[in-house]
Amino acid sequence: MRLFVSEGSPGSLPVLAAAGRAQGRAELRISTVGPEERVVPFLTQPKVPVLQLDSGNYLFSTSAICRYFFLLSGWEQDDLTNQWLEWEVTELQPALSAALYYLVVQGKKGEDVLGPVRGALIHIDNSLSRRSCPFLAGSADYLFSPMPTEELGALHSWFQTLSSQEPCQRAAETVLKQQGVLALRPYLQKQLQPSFLEGKAVSNEPEEEELATLSEEEIAVAVTAWEKGLGSLPPLRPKQTPVLPVAGERNVLITSALPYVNNVPHLGNIIGCVLSADVFARYSRLRQWNTLYLCGTDEYGTATETKAMEEGLTPQEICDKYHVIHADIYRWFNISFDIFGRTTTPQQTEITQDIFQRLWNRGFVLQDTVEQLRCESCARFLADRFVEGVCPFCGYEEARGDQCDKCGKLINAIELKKPQCKLCRSCPVVKSSRHLFLDLPKLEDRLEEWLGKTLPGSDWTSNARFIIRSWLRDGLKPRCITRDLKWGTPVPLEGFEDKVFYVWFDATFGYLSITANYTDQWERWWKNPEQVNLYQFMAKDNVPFHGLVFPCSALGAEDNYTLVSHLIATGTFEDLTGIVMGNEG
Ligand code: MF3
Ligand code: ZN
Repeated sequence: MRLFVSEGSPGSLPVLAAAGRAQGRAELRISTVGPEERVVPFLTQPKVPVLQLDSGNYLFSTSAICRYFFLLSGWEQDDLTNQWLEWEVTELQPALSAALYYLVVQGKKGEDVLGPVRGALIHIDNSLSRRSCPFLAGSADYLFSPMPTEELGALHSWFQTLSSQEPCQRAAETVLKQQGVLALRPYLQKQLQPSFLEGKAVSNEPEEEELATLSEEEIAVAVTAWEKGLGSLPPLRPKQTPVLPVAGERNVLITSALPYVNNVPHLGNIIGCVLSADVFARYSRLRQWNTLYLCGTDEYGTATETKAMEEGLTPQEICDKYHVIHADIYRWFNISFDIFGRTTTPQQTEITQDIFQRLWNRGFVLQDTVEQLRCESCARFLADRFVEGVCPFCGYEEARGDQCDKCGKLINAIELKKPQCKLCRSCPVVKSSRHLFLDLPKLEDRLEEWLGKTLPGSDWTSNARFIIRSWLRDGLKPRCITRDLKWGTPVPLEGFEDKVFYVWFDATFGYLSITANYTDQWERWWKNPEQVNLYQFMAKDNVPFHGLVFPCSALGAEDNYTLVSHLIATGTFEDLTGIVMGNEG
């Protein structure tokens, strides 16, 4: 076992004292590390003390570590000790950190210091007074309190008793180095300001700012609603159709990522971004905000073409069939969409071509030649997923056009040996083809400027911020926005008649075109950033397209588009290593 402590970290005191009791029962190495050291690689913040067990696993809360040492020393668990250990973590530590910060870092005195921690100290004092023995639980208290305590008699003598015990003395020597509380200074200085910490760890109370935005009346209404049920709420505003933004009101536009049409929706779609957005939409309407919630099917791309071939239907027939299935399922779940549309509409073509034209006119589109595999017998260029062959790196026979499943390396399809068309098994040839690229590097400055204004104080989830930050850190590269396919939005440019836009270039314009199918006044939602608050919900692999590619296109098109104010992404932190471009069509 290895115990990591840090000089001057208050939490190191109780664990060292507890370790003293377990001495001789197990091999224990104690290492002193700097407070910034990341001992536990998967925690997001540096943390000491930490106990690394022989199994390699970690314990990193003081109560868990103390409990572990107690057990080693032959302690038989008892509820009271467990309760005190829990109390120490949830109540005492936050209060004590604040008090110590005021005392040691800010040099405050008296009530300023004692105030935050008084309640906790009184609780200890009262508990001690009620007991017949000098300890809170059994005979092994290692709670730590360096505070002046004369006024609380029982607490004071308890502290004296503890201080005279050898494990406590040794712990104090190691951590405090005979400097008293001043030894805690370098550690505390690196901590967040207490106003930040106070109460946060233990309470679910709304933050003060939020309370301030509620009027007395609203609070009274909420109390009544709580007591009498929803029936007592004022009726929801009558829905005008179409719902349009109203000047002077809070106008909330909510989207859930558009599900690919070529599948029956599953619970993953619903959980990923529909349910959360629906809850928010219902909340927004209850708050009497002017709310429009939309979604629809994402219908272009190779996946639809493949499905069409599988089912012997045309792509449009596939879309028509599955769009209805999607709409029915969401209706069954009672999702409160105001609109559930689709992307294969004339409005989609019109809006996409308009945005493209504006980007083109402003010099944000590049041209380049790309080498690609083409199957002459199928008369088509092959998307990566339609090619198979021998991996150029490891010789695996069934490597895919984008990656080898055996050695895991990324492959450029034209480098595959013995390539085969997956559809007809003939050998494709390398042909070059002109393509269009969105010049993201040229738009990066505008993007950063917009993010700088949008991100602070907004509700972007932390995974979304993380993804955007890592893309920007690596620098943006031009992105190919055209494909040699038939099923997509046509490219309105001479020489590109046989191509369509890459589905991810125009999928996000789907929100606009779906709104345009609902009302010809769609621009009041989508070209109205001053009046509209846009909330977008999605799975985390969609973040780059919504937080980066769409905003770049919209900023480059210079037509006063409404950009996302709050980007809510579903996905756990552990998943983040796998993000990058999971779901590209
Ligand atoms: N169809 C995509 C997916 O399921 C999401 C597209 S969202 C859009 O991952 F807005 F870009 F259409
Ligand atoms: Zn073929």
